[in-house]
Amino acid sequence: MFKAEVYSNRRNELRKHLDGGLALFPANNESPMNYPHNTYHYRQDSNFLYFFGLDQPGLMGVIDFESGEDYLFGDDLDLDDIIWMGQLPTMATLGGQVGIKNIEAKSKLPGYIQDALQKGRKVHYLPPYRHDTLLELTELIGMPYKEVGPGSSMALIKAVIALRSIKEIIEIEEISKAVDITWEMHTTAMKMAHPGIYEREIAGRIEGIAISHGTSVSFPIILSMDGQTLHNHHHGNILKEGRMMVTDAGAETVNHYAGDITRTVPVGGKFNQRQKEIYEIVLKAENWSIDNIKSGIQNRELHLGAAKIIAGGLKDLGLMKGDIDEAVAAGAHAMFFPHGLGHMMGLDVHDMEGLGEDNVGYNDAIKRSDQFGTAYLRLGKELQTGNVITVEPGIYFIPTLIDKWKSEGKFTEFINYDKAETYKDFGGIRIEDDVLVTETGYRVLGKPIPKTITDIEEIMKK
Ligand code: GLY
Ligand code: MN
Repeated sequence: MFKAEVYSNRRNELRKHLDGGLALFPANNESPMNYPHNTYHYRQDSNFLYFFGLDQPGLMGVIDFESGEDYLFGDDLDLDDIIWMGQLPTMATLGGQVGIKNIEAKSKLPGYIQDALQKGRKVHYLPPYRHDTLLELTELIGMPYKEVGPGSSMALIKAVIALRSIKEIIEIEEISKAVDITWEMHTTAMKMAHPGIYEREIAGRIEGIAISHGTSVSFPIILSMDGQTLHNHHHGNILKEGRMMVTDAGAETVNHYAGDITRTVPVGGKFNQRQKEIYEIVLKAENWSIDNIKSGIQNRELHLGAAKIIAGGLKDLGLMKGDIDEAVAAGAHAMFFPHGLGHMMGLDVHDMEGLGEDNVGYNDAIKRSDQFGTAYLRLGKELQTGNVITVEPGIYFIPTLIDKWKSEGKFTEFINYDKAETYKDFGGIRIEDDVLVTETGYRVLGKPIPKTITDIEEIMKK
């Protein structure tokens, strides 16, 4: 946890964005796996963490935009809790850790909200993404549950996004620490990626590294020889010579800031010619995109620039043809690069996605494209100093997509389907780093993880 002033300052900053009423910030509850007392690893809600810092269930934070007071509703542990789970600080102590002196029992919350509603005060809340939180809000606000999500406060959503998008120095340090742990995960995966090993042995080992640092992974590990499946959580293959292994994985710090890195390596540690050729194109697109990051540039411009490098490289290999600008404008590159260049990151690996991707990544000046491929770009708008984003281009050979587009005769002027057929056994390559946007440029965060062909082959030497 950070110092108490960090949280009071954030709540005070939020006050500047809202005219009146109050805002509810529900903590996440424990989430049962197969019966109530057998729960998944606990993860606090990121907005609660941002404004109220405490990492435990059963709490409700309230910010009153008129009185200037903040409240924490929650109960001290009873004897049973202490016997099974151990001693925890009192609510008063917890409140003190995050700069809150108004502590109330959870049983007082419904009356408090009803009182505010009866006085005609606006009760702001963010869109709930867990069903138990939805039920809690339904009861507190007294609305039909289907209206609770749509009834969330756009003013609060916009204000929270404005604050959380610009990272404080302590947050940048946290993300850098997350990448440092992630370095250990990726370098371990690289050294293990030799023929004969199950993917799950590597995935299990690197998840253990994240856990051994006191937290967990920041999202379920993506690790597969079948890297053409963008989010492949199946780890059942035995690695084979001639294939490549995509690892998209990151750790969280104890304060829950995320790392999110992707590396792709040849099984056995030596790139063959075909792998080298595709890899160099993705690396060029990644380096170009990072080098062009600066405050004020639209991330969609970087995305389309990366797409042109990918299309140009594939043209050199005979997989694409025709005019590259026209091919990218038409969306033909998306058969090979069917996702966006990146997203914001912070307390969430896709930062603030629970507040609505379009609210985070787009605005009145730039709307989301509806073209296949670019439509998946989560962040299109202008970058600002203090944003932390991922840069993660890739090239994939997805047999089902190739078959579909070929059968439809789609983009035959830009795609050489005969050549694409010969890559159907290739898989995919993605390379991803986490980058801070600065006034004049960028800073790649964390300890550098091998990504040139030379550096990867070096670390993978037995
Ligand atoms: N790391 C997974 C993703 O960015 O979607
Ligand atoms: Mn990512």
